[in-house]
Amino acid sequence: MSEKPSKYYVTTPIYYVNDKPHIGHSYTTILADVLASYHRLLGIPTHFLTGTDEHGQKVQQAADANGITPQEQCDQTVVRFQELWKRLEIQNDDFIRTTEERHKTVVQQTLQELFDRDEIYKAEYEGWYCVGCERFFTEKDLTEGNCPECGRPVDKIIESNYFFRMSKYQDWLIDYIETHPDFIQPSFRANETLGFLKNKELQDLCISRPKSRLAWGIELPFDSDFVTYVWFDALINYISAVGYKSDEEQFNKWWPASCQLIGKDILTTHTVYWPTMLKAMNVAMPESIFAHGWWLTGRTKMSKSLGNVVNPMDMIDSYGVDAFRYFLIAEMTLGQDASFTEEAFVKRYNADLANDLGNVTNRVLNMISRYCDNKVPASAKGDFDTGLEDALWKETVEVADEMGPMIGNMKLDASVGLVMTAVRKINVYLQERAPWSLAKEEGNEARIAYCLYTAAECLRVCAALLFPVMPEKMLALRTALGMGDAKPQLDKLTQFGVLTAGSEISQPGALFPRIEVEKKEEKKPAEKPKKQKQQPKKSGGTTPSSSADGLITFDQVMAVNLKTAVVLEAEKIEGADKLLKLQIDLGDEKRQLVAGIALHYTPEELVGKTIVVVANLKPAKLRGVKSEGMLLAASIGDDLRLVTVEGELGPGAAVK
Ligand code: MSP
Repeated sequence: MSEKPSKYYVTTPIYYVNDKPHIGHSYTTILADVLASYHRLLGIPTHFLTGTDEHGQKVQQAADANGITPQEQCDQTVVRFQELWKRLEIQNDDFIRTTEERHKTVVQQTLQELFDRDEIYKAEYEGWYCVGCERFFTEKDLTEGNCPECGRPVDKIIESNYFFRMSKYQDWLIDYIETHPDFIQPSFRANETLGFLKNKELQDLCISRPKSRLAWGIELPFDSDFVTYVWFDALINYISAVGYKSDEEQFNKWWPASCQLIGKDILTTHTVYWPTMLKAMNVAMPESIFAHGWWLTGRTKMSKSLGNVVNPMDMIDSYGVDAFRYFLIAEMTLGQDASFTEEAFVKRYNADLANDLGNVTNRVLNMISRYCDNKVPASAKGDFDTGLEDALWKETVEVADEMGPMIGNMKLDASVGLVMTAVRKINVYLQERAPWSLAKEEGNEARIAYCLYTAAECLRVCAALLFPVMPEKMLALRTALGMGDAKPQLDKLTQFGVLTAGSEISQPGALFPRIEVEKKEEKKPAEKPKKQKQQPKKSGGTTPSSSADGLITFDQVMAVNLKTAVVLEAEKIEGADKLLKLQIDLGDEKRQLVAGIALHYTPEELVGKTIVVVANLKPAKLRGVKSEGMLLAASIGDDLRLVTVEGELGPGAAVK
């Protein structure tokens, strides 16, 4: 792995307690957990903080709506977050609630200090206030008279308030962001903040609310008629939780944070308010603030009013915690939005977990059981060719070596993808070495032992690399490989020979039972066709089957219109590493299609090729790009080749 930092401190936003947690909150927290776990397993002192944001108007309103006090609202809702984190196997080191004394004291001390140093002053304020965002705006900020952030109506407010002299840090902040390229990530978010800072004059920040309007907050230490603005209070959690103004040793140990994770919705508060507050307090800046994108339901924003919010508890109940964590990490390219659908979940689960990882695990364990008396075989090389084993081990080590830099660069989806490639290579290797064939002849015991030992070692490495994402299942896999319940040490991963010859292996059962998908419309032909949700159902077995006997009729084959097409143009799709956009000639028409072959073919290689496409596939959008058809390709492991036709044949020929 890459060079080790001396410590790692990761934070999530603290979540509002006005509502129950959903998939978005789960994502940020799982992401932080995965990052924390990787660093811990590398032996790096790690601190992972999450918590809840319990003051402010939203909580007050939720409490009023529920007929309870704000503190009761907090106490009831915080439990939902804490329970969910437990179920999601989140290993946070601390959980801060902004209603805790340890936090309130620090906020008040900080305010007093800033007030004494004239960083905070009192003034009359006239402006527009968005209740939803809990933010003030000037007339100029508004979009068609509404909140520029969420589009909802705003209220006009005139009142005396306290202000933080944020405006004086504008030039400093621009310079800081420009000279610290890692400070705001991904870089396009740094540009977004810079654009905002360079295009308009930064205002001072209103940091108080008169109690007459909102009483639910931390009282200003220098004026008991006011409470603190919820963001000024909330942001301080990142330092109050690690001992700011209370435990210097602890504070110096963890601060500055290594990585502060946020969603893109709270970029301004974290990249403008927060750094200027820290600057005024003379506290060091965090090393990086990373804004991830949004989880959408299909292509639509999740919202309670649309009723499309994904409930993490439901997903865990249906598919298990580890599979849910895996999907979220594997599916979202950090920084970009991602789409959540149950169909996509089931597809990825079946492909990556049930088929690839589940299959390799079963094969390795079953063969060790059959050929090696259920014990980890000896690892001795003998007088036989070990070319395939050497190559497999080398490739696995390369993947392990690439993980560190990839995680450092926040390419978590790609890093998981890489491990799955290594998993598939074990399968390909087993296919080639075919120990079952070797077993047919006498005298091959040592070869079989070395083969299965190597495959098990490679599986051990993959399980360790996936451990932060799927802690429960990977622990089960390690136990099955005879390693007990010890957690992996990622810095000692790539020594060959860690598995102890002779130790008993066990059969953990299907780690990831395949999810069978029943298509309801096939069962009810009389009903008028309408879009039906897939009904995933778990099954115990691991063999794919779409109908009872797995066979389809001649008519079903003929319903697929396969045609030859010539590739006219090909280009990469920005932000999608695996996709290419192709313009194709189908003989009687030209079409555009999107294909997931960018890791296997360059655009140049494709132009002029005659390919085979499914011509009557319903058009769809992939990453927002229209695709009218699907090309055919054959793949085994990570080797993928286009299906082409032999010799010269133009576009538009029927393939039967
Ligand atoms: N309380 C503030 C944060 C204060 S931090 C000092 C807040 N809370 S929140 O409950 O609204 O949570 C916001 C965070 O939840 C987002 O920044 C993001 O991390 C996560 N998500 C909420 N919905 C999301 C999606 N649909 N998709 C991905 N993450 C989103 O803002």
